[in-house]
Amino acid sequence: MSDKGKFPHYMLKEIFDQPQGLRDTIAPRVSLESARVCLDEVRISEEELRCLRRINIVASGTSRHAGMAGQYMIQELVNLPVDVDYSSEFEYRNLLIGRGELTMLITQSGETADTSAAQREAKAKGSRTVAISNVIDSTIAREADGVLYTYAGTEISIASTKAFTAQLAVLYLFAVYLGQVRGTLRKDRVRSHLQELLEIPGKVEIVLQSAPACRRLAEIYHTMQDFLFLGRAIHYPVAMDGALKLKEVSYIHAEGYPTGETKHGPNALIDESLPVVIIATCDPEDQAAVLRYEKNLASIKSFKQQSGRVIAVATAGDEQVASLADHTIFVPPASELLSPILEIVPLQLFAYYMAVEKGLDVDRPRNLVKSVTLE
Ligand code: F6R
Repeated sequence: MSDKGKFPHYMLKEIFDQPQGLRDTIAPRVSLESARVCLDEVRISEEELRCLRRINIVASGTSRHAGMAGQYMIQELVNLPVDVDYSSEFEYRNLLIGRGELTMLITQSGETADTSAAQREAKAKGSRTVAISNVIDSTIAREADGVLYTYAGTEISIASTKAFTAQLAVLYLFAVYLGQVRGTLRKDRVRSHLQELLEIPGKVEIVLQSAPACRRLAEIYHTMQDFLFLGRAIHYPVAMDGALKLKEVSYIHAEGYPTGETKHGPNALIDESLPVVIIATCDPEDQAAVLRYEKNLASIKSFKQQSGRVIAVATAGDEQVASLADHTIFVPPASELLSPILEIVPLQLFAYYMAVEKGLDVDRPRNLVKSVTLE
């Protein structure tokens, strides 16, 4: 009990642990003075990294959602193709992977059986492997060529929260590191990416102040049966993870969907009984992000025309989104690739308070275990 400190549940404590977990994960690997990321733990030579043809990311659940965001980070900063797979599906395809490729296994526990099987498969095909794990010396970490540890601290609640944001930070560090090694990022760009990353833990602290607002949302919405979580581009994996958190801790059906896909089917479902949670932040420095933002405004308008109820996550000060949505939770401005670390926090809090409203065992949801060691 004492481990929980002032918090009633581990999940809430772990959500609030995130700024510290991020600082511990980022700070030891970054030098702003020399504008360099130091990732010796990758244990794959720079020469080999320069010759990589492709990266495969393999993971389950929340860790796979981090991998999906990592795909955007690496492809954007390094111009290298990245595939993302479910660990449990990996071996069922004709795996066209081999030498000159890197397979990254993302796993909080380092013990997930499906991810471990995928690792063996990738190694047998001649691929190098790097694990991202939160548990020192875990099985998957031990069997990988290199390990990038997340230093989120022990995660006890079954729903993964602080490991996820630490995974996102490590994937960003890895993308910048690859950009540095492969010469796709000049020193000044490396410095600005690292500067932005170092500011993220403080921004998460600001987002945590939205906890009372997330609790009020749960008071309003905890009797609903279904939710749709939407996001475009790198915000889509955030929507996926927001939906997963809600499902697992509150037992409410929720789906994560790419916002643009709603008009290809799910729109038929949207009315007052299917609330929509939409990630609608905007990085004004990023042209493509501004275009996506305009599309998000149009989507929110159309959901409202269908009598939908809209909860938006938007950038602080965004009056436009706030005037269209029924409820808006604000996060501080951040670059497109880093904003997922901020956006997921209100969704974690929302899922947590929904479970509390329903009187459920938040830290130990039914039918789930912390580490899935059977295939
Ligand atoms: C969701 C959750 C699970 C895990 C998944 C993979 O909150 O915790 O979806 O993310 O079982 O576990 P690891 O990361 O330990 O391989």
